[in-house]
This record gives sequence, structure tokens and C-alpha cells, in this order.
Amino acid sequence: MVKKRACIFISGSGTNLRSIIKNSRDYNFPINVNLVISDNKNAKGIDFAKKFSIPYIILDSKKDKFEKIAIKELLDRKIKLVCLAGFMKILSKNFVRNFKGKIINIHPSLLPKYKGLSTFKRALNAREKITGCTVHFVDEKLDNGKTIVKKKVLIDKSDNHEQLKKKVQSEEYKAYSIAIRKIYNAN
Ligand code: GRF
Repeated sequence: MVKKRACIFISGSGTNLRSIIKNSRDYNFPINVNLVISDNKNAKGIDFAKKFSIPYIILDSKKDKFEKIAIKELLDRKIKLVCLAGFMKILSKNFVRNFKGKIINIHPSLLPKYKGLSTFKRALNAREKITGCTVHFVDEKLDNGKTIVKKKVLIDKSDNHEQLKKKVQSEEYKAYSIAIRKIYNAN
């Protein structure tokens, strides 16, 4: 199997990045992580790119410049899939159109519930009994594209923010892996 060339966009701790890299070491996993792009020079996730010897670019610039350089890098490096993993910029319509159907994102809620930020806090405040995460295609609207995989997480009455975040994030790692396999019909 020829693995598809993928790039992961990050802004922060990069634990989803780490999980995707680890999965990609599996012979049967459909993608290889060929590039990491961070829009934050202090993102902890950059350390995972270094640790696993994956090329990385820090693009700590305004959106226009970020996107111009990112598009060129993605095209030059023949990247076929862009995975957003804790990436905090909202990509422009132009960027999304350039890579239509080739950008996916992970969001820490069961979309369409709780689009946007502070999803754990909002779910706890609303006394939800259930939340989760969603991997979806990125379209021109925020947290809106077609769902690929959803994973549910039960909220215990005693859960605080950190506990809930930990529970959801451990499901995120599985969800991202399942979603990438699903896109390419891999087992
Ligand atoms: C994850 O919870 C993801 O759902 C959200 O941002 C967080 C990123 O965590 N979009 P990490 O950088 O992968 O550790």
C-alpha cells in the first residue's frame, strides 16, 4: 500500500499529533505524516515532530501570509490530506476551496452541539450527561463539514473540567485514527 502524504496543523500541546504519528508507524495505516505546520512558535507539539524526525514549519504570521506559505508548502510536498489537530486559526474560504475534501478536523464535542471554543466548560455548565468528539471534513463554515466519526463520552456528576477533558481526549485519539482509516477504506 502506498501511503498518502499528510500534513498536521497544530497550535498547542499536540497530543493528537503524537497519536497520529504513532498510528502512522503501522504498516497498514493509510497515511504518512510528512509535514507538521504550527502557527505558534511555542507549541509543545513541535517537540513531537522533532522527536519523530518529521519536517516541521513554524508559521507564526498573520492569516494571509500563513495561508500563502502553507499552500505552497502543501503543493510542493504533494500533501494529499491536511489534519487539523488543535489548530486555532480559522482557515479562509480560499484555503478550504484549494484543498476541498482534503482537510479534516477534530472537535471536542458531539457536533453540531457546542461548536467553537470552551466545549467542556459549556457541556458541564449545561449539566449534559453525554458529550464526546467529532472528526469531520472542513468546509467554509466553522465546525460544520460532513461528519466522519463521532465518539461519545459519558459525563459523571463528579467530573470536573480536567477530568472531562482527559476522558474526551483519550477518545479523540481513537476517533482520529478510525476517521483516517475510514476515509481511505482501510482496516
Ligand atoms: C483537542 O481537544 C481538539 O479536539 C481541539 O483541541 C485540542 C487539541 O489538543 N480541537 P492537542 O493539541 O491535540 O493535544
